[in-house]
Amino acid sequence: MALDRPAAPNDLHAFWMPFTANRQFKKSPRMFVAAEGMHYTTADGRKVLDGTAGLWCCNAGHKRPKIVEAIQKQAAELDYAPAFQMGHPRAFELANRLVDLAPDEMAHAFFVNSGSEAVDTALKIAIAYHRARGEGARTRLIGRERGYHGVGFGGISVGGIVNNRKVFGSLLTGVDHLPSTHIPENRWTRGQPEHGAHLADELERIVALHGAETIAACIVEPVAGSTGVLIPPKGYLKRLREICTRHGILLIFDEVITGFGRLGSPFAAQHMDVVPDMITCAKGLTNGVIPMGAVLTTAEIHDAFMTGPEHLIELFHGYTYSGNPIACAAALASLETYAEDGLFQRCADLAGYWEDGLHSLRDCPHVIDIRNMGLIGAVELEPIAGAPTQRAFSAFLKAYEKGVLIRTTGDIIALSPPLIIEKAQIDELFSALREVLQAE
Ligand SMILES: Cc1ncc(COP(=O)(O)O)c(C=O)c1O
Repeated sequence: MALDRPAAPNDLHAFWMPFTANRQFKKSPRMFVAAEGMHYTTADGRKVLDGTAGLWCCNAGHKRPKIVEAIQKQAAELDYAPAFQMGHPRAFELANRLVDLAPDEMAHAFFVNSGSEAVDTALKIAIAYHRARGEGARTRLIGRERGYHGVGFGGISVGGIVNNRKVFGSLLTGVDHLPSTHIPENRWTRGQPEHGAHLADELERIVALHGAETIAACIVEPVAGSTGVLIPPKGYLKRLREICTRHGILLIFDEVITGFGRLGSPFAAQHMDVVPDMITCAKGLTNGVIPMGAVLTTAEIHDAFMTGPEHLIELFHGYTYSGNPIACAAALASLETYAEDGLFQRCADLAGYWEDGLHSLRDCPHVIDIRNMGLIGAVELEPIAGAPTQRAFSAFLKAYEKGVLIRTTGDIIALSPPLIIEKAQIDELFSALREVLQAE
């Protein structure tokens, strides 16, 4: 396939790649140069089926005309407007659309540029909210082992992935962690596992240890994605909600992955019928096309700040690109595309087919667990003794050679295709994966 650009840059030296084995990559680079629908195109002209929606973000697939057009039009009309003390209509329109899509209790949207910023913003709002209400001692933050909340200092402090934390110093003080909900009894579960709701009660233990009056918020991913797809046990999130409510602790759902239809509802909160006090989102907000995130809050949280003289700034927080006009245009067009294509319902309709295909890999060599929810799936492999991550990474490389993009974290293969995936493409994905795993 002729491409009107160089196949690969001459020198790969300068770019320090994120979350990548740089030296290994640069010896044998894998470059995408185009994308459309369910496929990427590699620098050597091969098509690769996108089994991961980019990085859990291109929920409507690639190069969607409405989104492309909206970005082009917005860039030509209003490229940038100052985010502080000035506004532009698209940001207000988007905030309204977002709170309409979210659970009824969500009444306000604060715009940021990534999931990491959404998390740090939500944590700051939580602490400042309590202070605004005269409970300034509530500064502790509770996360969860194996949680991923991005890479800001707040996010890695409440997060529970050791490699993301251990070389970065003392992190935030006053943070504690719930235990992971991932327990061996739940192996091979389809959808939400039966065992483990009681793990929410660990929050009671933490409350007893520190005193509720010192705790600002508890943040969890409704379904943990980046750490290897950990599905919450039945009843767990409801129990966490009850304990938070009982102790005046804000519950934050980090929906950076689960937002925008990944489970078949706009947000996991609706899917699980549990209403948090704040929702963080990003990724699918703009279909991954332009960096953008948001924190959604209840009216109660927002209104606690709306006191004092009206000419004073209520929250000393924000980013140069909060509500950037082009990002807003991309987000509005993404939400329209999701609605026009009925993608959230499509995800719900496909979830059973996806689940069956995924679990059909159970008999493949070295597979020690499979789990799924909505259009998310994980195949966990037995690590090679003394060489953790290698088996899954080798599967990733083989799958790429076969024309299928998967993602690995540790020895877990994580899958999260665009919600436009066809049944035949689900079959293609799993049969490629079967061949890969049989060769491992
Ligand atoms: C749950 C969750 N929170 C936060 C983030 C961080 O998002 P970003 O990479 O946009 O900063 C991610 C990214 O995968 C995520 O999965």
